[in-house]
Amino acid sequence: MYLSSIDILQVRNLKSLKLECHPAINVIYGANGSGKTSVLEAIYLLGRGRSFKHRDLRLVVNHKAEELVVSAQLERQKPKGSHRLGIRRTSKGLFEARLDGRALQSATQLVEELPLQLIDAHSFNLLEGGALQRRQFLDWGVFHVEHSYTDLWRRFQKALKQRNQLLRHGRIDEDSLRAWTTELIPLSEELTRHRREYLEGLVEHIEAASRELEGLGELSFDYYQGWPDELGLAGVMAEDQARDLAVGTTSHGAHKADMKIKVDGVPASECLSRGQIKLLVYALKLAQATFYREKSGESCLFLLDDLPAELDYLHRQQIVGFLRGLDCQVFMTGVDKRDFQVLVEGMAHHMFHVEHGVTTKSEITGS
Ligand SMILES: Nc1ncnc2c1ncn2[C@@H]1O[C@H](COP(=O)(O)OP(=O)(O)OP(=O)(O)O)[C@@H](O)[C@H]1O
Ligand SMILES: [Mg+2]
Repeated sequence: MYLSSIDILQVRNLKSLKLECHPAINVIYGANGSGKTSVLEAIYLLGRGRSFKHRDLRLVVNHKAEELVVSAQLERQKPKGSHRLGIRRTSKGLFEARLDGRALQSATQLVEELPLQLIDAHSFNLLEGGALQRRQFLDWGVFHVEHSYTDLWRRFQKALKQRNQLLRHGRIDEDSLRAWTTELIPLSEELTRHRREYLEGLVEHIEAASRELEGLGELSFDYYQGWPDELGLAGVMAEDQARDLAVGTTSHGAHKADMKIKVDGVPASECLSRGQIKLLVYALKLAQATFYREKSGESCLFLLDDLPAELDYLHRQQIVGFLRGLDCQVFMTGVDKRDFQVLVEGMAHHMFHVEHGVTTKSEITGS
């Protein structure tokens, strides 16, 4: 799938901007503060219904405007067809999403329509940050392979929230606590089964991607399900009860899961250089895109903010080559046009120059 055109209205400093996109490579370059990341942010908003920079979307609407609108022409391979996808967010908080004029009920539907991967300055957190990042990474993958996963995930979150609320409540209603615990256990186990299966399928793709992006060493993956194996979750939760009541939260379950990644036997975050961490993040996300394509026959879209940062030329080349092989549409940004000229030489692409929120298509090669 790819976007053939994008219209952006009032997203940060981008007042009104139209991009005729290339199905493969789109380069966006320009000075600091010109609006490059904002272009990616607008595409991300369209695919996720939220920003990757701020929780509060009011900050994303142009200071002088009442609302932002992003819409795009989406070309799908399976089933083949052209669709209009759009979102609107007012500074008063109204959010609307539409596909071919029909209202979408939730952000999840946007995620389903436009699978995208982002790599930006914060992507290190996938390895260096908390377990939540890695759970979200796995959940993205499971969801895109199996859309019904959302329902399971929501039921789990609801049961967990209810149980935690009860635990925090001064006087405990034993029956209610037992009921929510009984509800939570099979949901935790079911989530775990999905995540484990997904990771098992993904590992060979991560290894393949890391072989392409040379210099990462021997990778190993360990899935921690969120509770010790020996007792089973029911046993663990029974043992935990007094502690859960004391701390007011559920100590074990699928919400505590993590994926531990080691390189040559050492945790990745403890041994890799900055650039290598970024490469490993690329390997993980490229692997997800490969797996997604294998399962769905579709390719996802990549947003690479400041691609040249921290990466040597050879690795930039390998990443772009890999994405071409996957038939993914890429939007990549950087401050210096020269960083991209040789990189995309001989490949069909569109190059956009952003200046004070306005773009000009500076170079078109190929269709
Ligand atoms: N709500 C807003 N309304 C108007 N302008 C905004 C808003 N929020 C941020 N800006 C401005 O938008 C501009 C574009 O920011 P953006 O992050 O897209 O720049 P960039 O080209 O990616 O820069 P860099 O090379 O430094 O990463 C900045 O000058 C910023 O101050
Ligand atoms: Mg930027």
